[in-house]
Amino acid sequence: MTLEEKLGQLQQLDGEGNGNFRPEHLDLIRKGLLGSTLNVRGAQRTNQVQRVAITESRLKIPVLFGFDVIHGYRTIFPIPLGEASSFDPSLAERSAAVAAQEANNVGLRWTFAPMVDIARDPRWGRITEGAGEDPFLGAAFARARVRGFQGDDYGAPDKVLACAKHWVAYGAAEGGRDYNTTDVSENTLREIYFPPFKAAVDAGVGTLMSSFNAINGVPASANTFTLTKVLRDEWKFDGFVVSDYTAVKELINHGVAGNEEEAATASLNAGVDMEMVSRSFNQFGPKLLQEKKITHATIDEAVRRILRIKFRLGLFDRPYTDEPREANALLRPESIRLAREVAGRSMVLLKNDRETLPLNKTLGSIAVIGPLADDRRAPLGWWAGDGKDENTVTPLTGIKAKVSPQTRVLYAKGCEVKGDSTDGFQQAIDIAKTSDVAVVFVGELAEMVGEAASRSSLDLPGKQMDLVQAIHATGKPTIVVLVNGRPLSIGWIVNNSPAILESWMGGTESGNAIADILFGDVNPGAKLPVSFPRTVGQIPIYYNHMNTGRPPDAGNRYNSKYFDLPWTPLFPFGFGLSYTTFKISNLQLSAPRIGVNGKVTVSVEVENTGRRAGDEVVQLYIRDPVASMTRPVKELKGFQRVSLQPGEKRRVEFVLGPEHLGFWNREMRYVVEPGEFRVMVGASSAETTEAKFDVTAN
Ligand code: NOJ
Repeated sequence: MTLEEKLGQLQQLDGEGNGNFRPEHLDLIRKGLLGSTLNVRGAQRTNQVQRVAITESRLKIPVLFGFDVIHGYRTIFPIPLGEASSFDPSLAERSAAVAAQEANNVGLRWTFAPMVDIARDPRWGRITEGAGEDPFLGAAFARARVRGFQGDDYGAPDKVLACAKHWVAYGAAEGGRDYNTTDVSENTLREIYFPPFKAAVDAGVGTLMSSFNAINGVPASANTFTLTKVLRDEWKFDGFVVSDYTAVKELINHGVAGNEEEAATASLNAGVDMEMVSRSFNQFGPKLLQEKKITHATIDEAVRRILRIKFRLGLFDRPYTDEPREANALLRPESIRLAREVAGRSMVLLKNDRETLPLNKTLGSIAVIGPLADDRRAPLGWWAGDGKDENTVTPLTGIKAKVSPQTRVLYAKGCEVKGDSTDGFQQAIDIAKTSDVAVVFVGELAEMVGEAASRSSLDLPGKQMDLVQAIHATGKPTIVVLVNGRPLSIGWIVNNSPAILESWMGGTESGNAIADILFGDVNPGAKLPVSFPRTVGQIPIYYNHMNTGRPPDAGNRYNSKYFDLPWTPLFPFGFGLSYTTFKISNLQLSAPRIGVNGKVTVSVEVENTGRRAGDEVVQLYIRDPVASMTRPVKELKGFQRVSLQPGEKRRVEFVLGPEHLGFWNREMRYVVEPGEFRVMVGASSAETTEAKFDVTAN
């Protein structure tokens, strides 16, 4: 390969919009100067581009087509934060497999997913794209999604190469403001932000994306510690790293490079292999080599990593996509069925006083109210692939399809999600008054979550809270369904509405899944993967916090709390209700003590004590109460979602070993320290029963 051809493999360029390539791409590809594109898609179009690479370029190196297939390509599944609420990683594996199948058939071979950033700040819009605040849950979902996208072999038909992003600590953006800088200790990196990436690497993820943010003063796209020391030296990752969009050039704005030459130098030397959109590697590579700012070995290694993945993908043997297959690849009936199942298993019942839910399908009349009751876009969320509004089942449609032919379904929008107009209130009030029950759909628009969608308030936008209050004031039983991509501070609703369903942004089949739950065909069993703050001022609030020297105490002023708020969240991590009830009891340990390398089996009985079949997510937390460093008050180390018939009882087992019990000590070594450990098992992070065991030095 000539130097230019090598540098060409390190370049990724964006399409023109709507899946189109740019004329320039063909030119560059012909000369061997472009290795990959993003956003170019469609079997016919990718084939057209690929044909230039295969038949007109000197080396015939195929182009790698990437796209953000985050929670579905055309069949859209719930936002990842929603899917994580299922506490069922096998569902995420199945939905990612459908996304891969659809993507592959439109010519894509690479998805920029899974997004595995831990997020403790719901102001940050991208919390919607990940699995929430917990590293253990995040790792389980990272693994599952990588498996779903890639299978055992990402070169297989219907599979795509995955990309764990954003490496790393992007979710720690200060103030929840997107792209912002982060300051995170190495302990916290290793214990909170790294684990989902490690899980993705162990599951064989082929690529990682270096993030926009700086970490402790060094931008992630020029960070030798994260890109080389951890990723290559410690974890032995042999795939390649792509920068985020123009992140290489942005090193100039970060202030660690004076110009693009310095940006390219810093990024290549730190370990970025492919540059997305900016062109610093290509433009300045030859000069930098001449000046010995970078070495041929660095360039060769980056090229080798990229080509290795292209070979593993089978791109050299099968560069083209079968065009006739594309038409039957999207929105297959089984994909739609799965989207409905996943959505139903991802929605969290937050409140249900006096069995307000489920509703009777034969009720006389129902008022369906709110700006999100019949909105086709919001349920698709951010990064909706090529999801189309026209395929979305809205709640209104889902409810109409569910109720008896005699039931009157009345609809009023009430207000918009944004804006100050209350002109529609009266109509909404009127239909509520003439109905047996009102269901109000409020939340966020798709554009309010995701990238560049940080919010300084977690209140319902616009006049939506007023609308809920106005409907509540009619005296009709009012159920609130939230359609949103992040935790919201909805204290008034929690105090006043009898029933609340968190539907997240549930994807293409959202409306059917909501109706399944509202009318009892599906019994909700999901749990929150993130704490809900009472107000934005409580942020960051997460369950696995440290204890402080002065843990909160209601009777004492000089403790760690706000004087104007309870210290607890509105809803804790792991919380979620069901239409039935469960009892978790009889916690047992297989041994009272184990050695530092030993294992202990923890088991507990879970019983369905209600009248309906349902699911409980049994959650296991640990605490190391005395250690050489402060340890969290609780850490999730196991969970199982179990389905039980009424009256059915089952013993659930978890095994705890050194991989669960240790931490990164002051010398930055992973150690299990002898001493007492507490085990807490329960239905949420705030409702647990406890046992203890000892770890001995040998
Ligand atoms: C920027 C986003 O941060 C990243 O997640 C995405 O994959 C790229 N743009 C490409 O669209």
